[in-house]
Amino acid sequence: MNVAIIGLGYVGAVTAACLAKLGVDVIGVDTDEHKVAAIAAGRSPIAEPGLDELLAEGVASGRLTTGTIREAVERSDVIMIAVGTPSAPSGALDLAAVHRVAEEVGASLPADGRFRTVVVRSTVLPGTTDGEVRPRLEDASGMVAGTHFGLATNPEFLRESSSIRDFFEASRTVIGADDDRSAQMVRAVYAGVPAPIYVVPIRTSEMVKYTDNAFHAVKIAFANEIASFARANGVDGRDVMKVMAADDRLNISTAYLRPGYAFGGSCLPKDLRAITDRARKTDVDLPLLDAALASNTAHFERGVRLVEASGRRNVGLLGLSFKSSTDDLRESPAVALAERLLGKGYRLSIYDEDIHPERLRGANRAFIDRHLPHLGQLLSESLDATIAGSDVLVLTKVWPDVETLALRLRDDQVLVDLVGLPGAADRLGDRYAGIGW
Ligand SMILES: NC(=O)c1ccc[n+]([C@@H]2O[C@H](COP(=O)([O-])OP(=O)(O)OC[C@H]3O[C@@H](n4cnc5c(N)ncnc54)[C@H](O)[C@@H]3O)[C@@H](O)[C@H]2O)c1
Repeated sequence: MNVAIIGLGYVGAVTAACLAKLGVDVIGVDTDEHKVAAIAAGRSPIAEPGLDELLAEGVASGRLTTGTIREAVERSDVIMIAVGTPSAPSGALDLAAVHRVAEEVGASLPADGRFRTVVVRSTVLPGTTDGEVRPRLEDASGMVAGTHFGLATNPEFLRESSSIRDFFEASRTVIGADDDRSAQMVRAVYAGVPAPIYVVPIRTSEMVKYTDNAFHAVKIAFANEIASFARANGVDGRDVMKVMAADDRLNISTAYLRPGYAFGGSCLPKDLRAITDRARKTDVDLPLLDAALASNTAHFERGVRLVEASGRRNVGLLGLSFKSSTDDLRESPAVALAERLLGKGYRLSIYDEDIHPERLRGANRAFIDRHLPHLGQLLSESLDATIAGSDVLVLTKVWPDVETLALRLRDDQVLVDLVGLPGAADRLGDRYAGIGW
């Protein structure tokens, strides 16, 4: 396996050295003569623990060399683009280096019948590889991606300062590919790394990289806001975060990371309001926590717009409580959605697996009678009746056999899916509208 790495900065130099260590023949390319000279001499062009030794070993073994783009492309099976994608003044991605390299790689691709795969390793927004890299490669080479050469992505998740360990002990390798052959070639590059490999569509892989970094930024900002608030309230934020992180069921876990509809219930909105109100009164700036409430409102509004966009007026609201398996209606986004739609003149039938009007009693009966008598009257005892009387169904929660819902809809009915019902999009086609899928 021969791999070309174009761009020998933080990402390219580390990738080149680590692949050479794994026995891959690597040829590195850069427009910066100093970096090329350093690597050719087995010295690191950047400060990165362990990189000097690894580069020296790679060069001494003959597995790591440098050359021109043309030499690199001709010799290689896989050509990785690892040039910089800095911010333009507007914040937009500056893709000038990626564009240029794509054109140069395309112009260098020989028509010798050998299937080479071009891999975008630089961080680029969803759609860039397909919309900006692919056409440049195809125009410059006169060949077709997926047929004459492969196209893939392989975003990089290493952290500067521990990147060599991160490479060999990666928690996962992500490959974006829209055809099997391209995916297989990138897989082969990572044969020596024991991490699980996720092969996903190219756009998904591009998005995963931004999702990771956005999440990391939010985590850091969150910890810092909590610590600032804690300090203003006479608490050591380090102690708080330590105990918080000890919960690996709800806190440091996949819980609450599945996209769905807006959050609600008797705790999250109330407690967020309390903390942000106290912060305002004590001059502690908590823009992230303030934004959590604003973000939730924006997400709620997306649900309203999806129903409006369906163009239907008879709505079957499937789910009224704030989440599955509870009848708690306090601050339920589905209640707010029902109120909004009624206010806009929609006709509503409401079915909730956990709220049966005939069996309603105690606190919930009193809550509905006091706060939502008009909604109580719209509650249906039967899912079939609600479906029959509606032309758009709006799903806000799941219940045990909810998967059968798509099968029960008539051909003239539309589903607005606010929870991500598996298989429903495929089954319903253009009669389906999802909120984040
Ligand atoms: N630095 C990180 O820790 C890190 C981590 C993950 C992802 N990334 C992403 O990886 C990409 C590269 O980042 P970096 O930090 O390695 O950038 P960098 O600026 O350190 O390196 C980019 C290299 O590309 C070279 N280059 C530019 N134009 C070229 C051309 N036409 N031909 C050949 N070489 C050319 C530059 O001379 C430079 O050496 C970026 O998209 C970045 O967002 C970086």
